[in-house]
Amino acid sequence: MNIKDQIILVTGANGGIGKALVAAFLAAGAARVYACARDITSLDALPANDRISKLKLDICNTANIEKAAMVARDVTLLVNNAGTGGCGLLGSQQNARREMEVNYFGTHAMCTTFAPILGINGGGCIVNIISVIGLVNMPSIGTYCASKAALHSLTQGVRAALSGQKTAVVGVYPGPVDTRMTEGLAMAKASPESVAEEILTGVTAGHEEIYPDSFAKKIHEELLANPKEVEREMGKY
Ligand SMILES: NC(=O)c1ccc[n+]([C@@H]2O[C@H](COP(=O)([O-])OP(=O)(O)OC[C@H]3O[C@@H](n4cnc5c(N)ncnc54)[C@H](OP(=O)(O)O)[C@@H]3O)[C@@H](O)[C@H]2O)c1
Repeated sequence: MNIKDQIILVTGANGGIGKALVAAFLAAGAARVYACARDITSLDALPANDRISKLKLDICNTANIEKAAMVARDVTLLVNNAGTGGCGLLGSQQNARREMEVNYFGTHAMCTTFAPILGINGGGCIVNIISVIGLVNMPSIGTYCASKAALHSLTQGVRAALSGQKTAVVGVYPGPVDTRMTEGLAMAKASPESVAEEILTGVTAGHEEIYPDSFAKKIHEELLANPKEVEREMGKY
């Protein structure tokens, strides 16, 4: 899909990757970007641009989603970027439930509501921001990985289900990216801007899966070669 002239909705547009995606889409000639956030004032940091429309959108709030779908009826590219993550695996279910609510059920609700809109608008594209650790579990953030694994599976299903209406469905599998979500994580991280550029390149090229940084590319290759070894290695963290 060529980004030029597309009408794009980005969830979590006030976050690290979301903000970088909005900027990259505008630079690539998008006709309009619906920049969405739970707190609309948090979008004040976006650059002034008359091609940006700001929308209040909590992806776990049905009324918010329905309102967004009324306003953004012309969307041709939906980017499900909003996500949340905490630490933990075995223990309180509070984090685990929140991660599933946002990363899986919230994204599911967005796909469900916007699929008919994309169909009416000619097919278009859905981009789901997943994570490379949705493909292999890292126990210290094991419930987050599980929620992203659920989203990975959902993405495959939605891809098949919407092929008849010609909606392309893209899964993005980043490694560590330097955003609020990874604050305090002491390891090399890709910049949100470089990740956004890789996503645009992949979507433009028609790729169904995008590994937008060197860590993600390496894990993907290792998973293809020896998945059990990757599972054992990631199990140490
Ligand atoms: N950073 C990484 O290393 C990394 C790696 C792989 C995948 N990802 C994924 O990339 C996506 C973007 O994350 P990020 O790294 O840019 O982190 P971030 O800066 O923390 O951004 C997360 C965004 O999601 C929004 N959000 C959370 N719950 C929401 C809800 N219920 N409804 C609507 N928006 C909600 C946040 O809004 P608020 O400001 O209102 O909380 C924020 O805008 C996420 O899906 C994340 O899982 C990140």
